[in-house]
Amino acid sequence: MKPILSAALSALMVFSAGAQTGDRKIIRIATDNTDLVLEVGPNNRLYQTYLGPKLRHNEDLINLTWNQHAGSDGSVSTRGWEAYSTSGNEDFFEPALGITHSDGNMTTYLYYENSTQEEVPGGTHTKINLRDDKYPVNVTLNYVAYPKENVIKTWSEISHREKKPISLSQYASAMLYFNEPEYWLTEFSSDWAKEAQMSTQQLQFGKKVIDTKLGSRAAMHTHPFFEIGLNGPAKENSGEVLMGTLGWTGNFRFTFEVDNVGNLRVIPGINPYASTYELKANEVFTTPEFIFTISYDGTSQGSRNLHDWARKYQLKDGEGQRLTLLNNWENTAFDFDQDILAKLMKEAKHLGVDMFLLDDGWFGNKYPRKDDHAGLGDWEVTHDKLPGGIPALVDAAKEADVKFGIWIEPEMVNPKSDLYEKHPDWVIEQPNRDTYYYRNQLVLDMSNPKVQDHVFNVVDNILTENPDVAYFKWDCNSPITNIYSPYAKDKQSQLYVDHIRGIYNVLKRIKDKYPDVPMMLCSGGGARCDYEALKYFTEFWCSDNTDPIERIYIQWGFSQFFPAKAMAAHVTSWNKNTSVKFRTDVAAMCKLGFDIGLQDLTAEELEYCQQAVENWKRLQPAVMDGDQYRLVSPYETNHAAVEYVDKSKKMAVLFAYDLSPRFQEKLSPVKLRGLDPDKKYLVKEINLMPGTESTFTQNNKVFTGDYLMKVGLNIFSWNHNTSTVLELTAQ
Ligand code: DGJ
Repeated sequence: MKPILSAALSALMVFSAGAQTGDRKIIRIATDNTDLVLEVGPNNRLYQTYLGPKLRHNEDLINLTWNQHAGSDGSVSTRGWEAYSTSGNEDFFEPALGITHSDGNMTTYLYYENSTQEEVPGGTHTKINLRDDKYPVNVTLNYVAYPKENVIKTWSEISHREKKPISLSQYASAMLYFNEPEYWLTEFSSDWAKEAQMSTQQLQFGKKVIDTKLGSRAAMHTHPFFEIGLNGPAKENSGEVLMGTLGWTGNFRFTFEVDNVGNLRVIPGINPYASTYELKANEVFTTPEFIFTISYDGTSQGSRNLHDWARKYQLKDGEGQRLTLLNNWENTAFDFDQDILAKLMKEAKHLGVDMFLLDDGWFGNKYPRKDDHAGLGDWEVTHDKLPGGIPALVDAAKEADVKFGIWIEPEMVNPKSDLYEKHPDWVIEQPNRDTYYYRNQLVLDMSNPKVQDHVFNVVDNILTENPDVAYFKWDCNSPITNIYSPYAKDKQSQLYVDHIRGIYNVLKRIKDKYPDVPMMLCSGGGARCDYEALKYFTEFWCSDNTDPIERIYIQWGFSQFFPAKAMAAHVTSWNKNTSVKFRTDVAAMCKLGFDIGLQDLTAEELEYCQQAVENWKRLQPAVMDGDQYRLVSPYETNHAAVEYVDKSKKMAVLFAYDLSPRFQEKLSPVKLRGLDPDKKYLVKEINLMPGTESTFTQNNKVFTGDYLMKVGLNIFSWNHNTSTVLELTAQ
């Protein structure tokens, strides 16, 4: 290697994605805290030379070499960390890209062509164009680095000009490499009412795969995000951790492979299971975005990086206000009429929330939706149940002085429906096998543009006829069963991918026409929770499990990747052994709502809830838009504590829970975080049941931020299933 001029390197940092540095070309993708460095090797292929804490000195970049991590197996001269490794190359481990060319050749070699760098909102977009020298195949690697939030978003574009289509058997979004003594994976397994369960294991030689094959309710068994503790299990407030998530609402796959020399490669992408994709000439296959941060201070900082990034750049209306609401699903299920709903709207007003949300069961005439066996697909109000239709409901909401929102599940159909009878060919279903029904329903074929129009029209018709409808809860209760599309004909292996793309087409159209209508993403609980869908949804429903004890764990899990603003939580009657206060305090850590009949509340409980809603609204700068600190883990202790601090550090709120302490176990003070050490804070217990006095011994006292962070507050007790909420106000 020839030495290079440091002046040339400085120019690279300032002006361009890459620089000719003698015979070396180095591309630096940088946030304020992290560097991802790529280099074109002497063979003109692209290698990752570094990913980790930001390097202070530009001149050190030349000390990174393209093959420094190669094995001792003689491959040292030919094997490096290829940035987007391809099938058939000399690497021998899992590739990012697998192509069968039109002549049957299964190898692809990608060579560097050129790269650009441009400013985009919040960050810098680096594009690197690669090309095979023997086949007209192009790959563009995209990286958007958000310096302040320390987040990098990356995706790939694949295209070609071969005479006949090529087959893509693997098409990852990206590929990242690490060289550490140990790698510890934290995954988030799930099921109905058991979302975001965290478990950690060490990765050893070979592959660990996290994937899903569910198609539509795709994240029901595992969620599209993970953490890798680099050199030890990920910790909350210390240590290096990679936190990554894929923006894809369908089947995804994360492959973690430790190779022969102990290096780890991480390959995130669409799950290619049953999804070989036939790409026509000039068609561009764009992979989903993989979004990651590397925190050097544990997962707590990594989560805040992602929360800030999401609110600013990804989540629909991420910086806007959220609506508190009263939902009727847990209260009435399908059993309601116009009068009952009008009464519930008044209850919503009485509670002090902004909106009433009507759930499942309002539609279908030929096959009324009395239960989950019929009616899905027929989005007309059931006349004998709701004779005044949606207009009467909107009027009733106006009279009650609350907004009106409505539930839909537009991608689905019950076989007992008008829609299915008219359009059996719009459904994903086997032509020649017995049909398997999940929740008595089938999935509409979203790869079919006519079906996309139908789904768009579900929302468009409601809003055209009722412009005052203020909110949608968009549900998806079935995985894709009986996979076969009459529309796809001989392209069945593209259905899993094209189905999800069809959903995005519809969501884009809705967002373009109705940019200000908030929507909740729901999938039989939290089986849809990804950052591509959240471009179109203001929040997602974390779980049907609203038992507050379970919810503490579920919300702890989701909060690793999503800001509280994106996470909907409702107070319900699940686990009546816990108090209404406890249930409300847990829901108030997220976007607060209720799904409970006021008849189930005593006068004191109602008054308590009204006060809690008011408090929550006041505390929004901290809970919705501030910084979150997970202080005490329910996974590690018999308690839990989560704190939110507003960006100016003038307001903070601490939610503390005694879950199941042992007899006279040692109780430690809770040390706060993120406060201004030099500010004085009045600490006041809020969300007290009417008529009860605070038993918190340090109530109504003033402490410096320094004291609160170093000495802490004695907030835990030996009670079971109780909660304490403290508001901190800078003096
Ligand atoms: C599943 C959702 O998670 C629930 O909140 C509710 O909307 C039901 N579907 C309605 O069928």
